[in-house]
Amino acid sequence: MQEQQTKPLWWQEGVIYQIYPRSFQDSNGDGIGDLPGILKRLDYLKELGITAVWLSPIYPSPMDDFGYDIADYQNIDPLFGTLADFDTLLTEVHQRGLKLILDLVPNHTSDQHPWFLESRSSRTSPKRDWYLWRDALPDGSVSNNWLSVFGGSGWEWDETTQQYYYHAFLKEQPDLNWRNPAVQQAMFDVMRFWLEKGVDGFRVDVMWHMIKDDLFRDNPPNPGYQPHMATYEQLLPVFSTDQPDVHDLVLKMREVLDQYPERMMIGEIYLPIHQLMTYYGIDGKGAHLPFNFQLLQLPWDARQIATAIDQYEGLLPAGGWPNWVLGNHDQPRITSRVGRDQARVAALLLLTLRGTPTVYYGDEIGMRDVPIPLEEVQDPQGLNMPDKNLSRDPARTPMQWDQQPNAGFTTGKPWLRLAGNHARENVQVQNEDPDSMLSLHKRLLALRQREPSLRMGDYVPVYADNSLMAYIRQANGHPRFLMVLNLSHRPTYFKPKDPSLKGVIALATSREREGNTVGGTITLGGDEGMIIRLD
Ligand code: NOJ
Repeated sequence: MQEQQTKPLWWQEGVIYQIYPRSFQDSNGDGIGDLPGILKRLDYLKELGITAVWLSPIYPSPMDDFGYDIADYQNIDPLFGTLADFDTLLTEVHQRGLKLILDLVPNHTSDQHPWFLESRSSRTSPKRDWYLWRDALPDGSVSNNWLSVFGGSGWEWDETTQQYYYHAFLKEQPDLNWRNPAVQQAMFDVMRFWLEKGVDGFRVDVMWHMIKDDLFRDNPPNPGYQPHMATYEQLLPVFSTDQPDVHDLVLKMREVLDQYPERMMIGEIYLPIHQLMTYYGIDGKGAHLPFNFQLLQLPWDARQIATAIDQYEGLLPAGGWPNWVLGNHDQPRITSRVGRDQARVAALLLLTLRGTPTVYYGDEIGMRDVPIPLEEVQDPQGLNMPDKNLSRDPARTPMQWDQQPNAGFTTGKPWLRLAGNHARENVQVQNEDPDSMLSLHKRLLALRQREPSLRMGDYVPVYADNSLMAYIRQANGHPRFLMVLNLSHRPTYFKPKDPSLKGVIALATSREREGNTVGGTITLGGDEGMIIRLD
């Protein structure tokens, strides 16, 4: 479903940039990024050309899962600063015409959250039913076979009250009972707290996990499981995730948001696209953007990617706005997946597809996954399953700013080591090089934001084969653009069926080609991509 009739909203025509606050910019020498650090870098973000910033969690937390274990939803962790720092940051973000999106983690709290401390204090606690408590089976074993995403059982025995509680992630991250209306109200109050401050939206953590089968039935085995996979994948989580009732919750969250003008909600949802689409909600009253992670998951193959784009476009509900993601704090970086040269083509793809792109911090300078020695691993997912190479640390290393020690990230000892090449690969160096990944991003973002066809236009598939894909973006009354991307390392040719497809190269991964007129057969180098302004 294409054709945008009404004036686009900010989150439709904009570009989101994800900051992992621990790793962006430290301001006080403790080796951990913070809000005053982010403040210092807002001009960089503005100049880069992104329009909205999403911050991974900044709330008080024991940091067992680096902030995704929240102990107080309405404050700022001292590591990151204070509420006053936050207010300043929000004001300064808005002053630059940017938007701010916070991470909301409604599925679980920290085990140090007062709600859980109260809940676990006794079986008769007024908050007992705020979490998922179950008796042991008669033989003492766990209530059902549900697993934790981070390894092992999803159930933890509580000695004091002699029951198990469920945690989809760490045992320090107990899942809330969203069937309890008091839990719902408490979380809606949290949303209002930040919305009242003027926050522009939320990225909702593990939205598809929020409600579970009320009969707690066992999950079935996954016939596709292979030993290299995370242990969680041994079962298909059909009773512990993506339950029909989740959509009522999403609708209620949406109703809270809709009491404020132009606020938005992104859902973190790892599901096949047919299921993903249901999170747009009935009549579009669900998540504004259910995150589309296909580019993270598909093999880097032109034909498969082109087909997936078509399927996604075809499945979008009426009024549903698309979005694309190339990286986040849970996934290997794109440069490490496809290589340095191909990452430039990937950037061209991300920033010319129809729909809101999310850029992961550091990807704009081509940061790679940094090898972290085993004894320095911090990520609980890596620590819990050491033989599976699942640590997310490599994609979370400090941002590489300049040629100072620690790339200007901190004057102290960084919480995670930096890339070895940070003196060569950083913002400062790349700013001066018109051919750098950073310069490519700036030019791409500027072109996208300047050209209505690229920002809001329809997507028209043109061609795909083993190595290349081509598509047009077009908006009524505006110049049309043809994208031709070589997803392979070898040279190839593109011969459009339609001979009228001629124009001038507006932007290319190799700047030498820009300004050239192309038509007929186009020759592309390996790892080359181009944006052609059609005549
Ligand atoms: C998804 C987040 O992106 C990830 O970093 C976190 O570990 C889990 N949710 C648990 O909150």
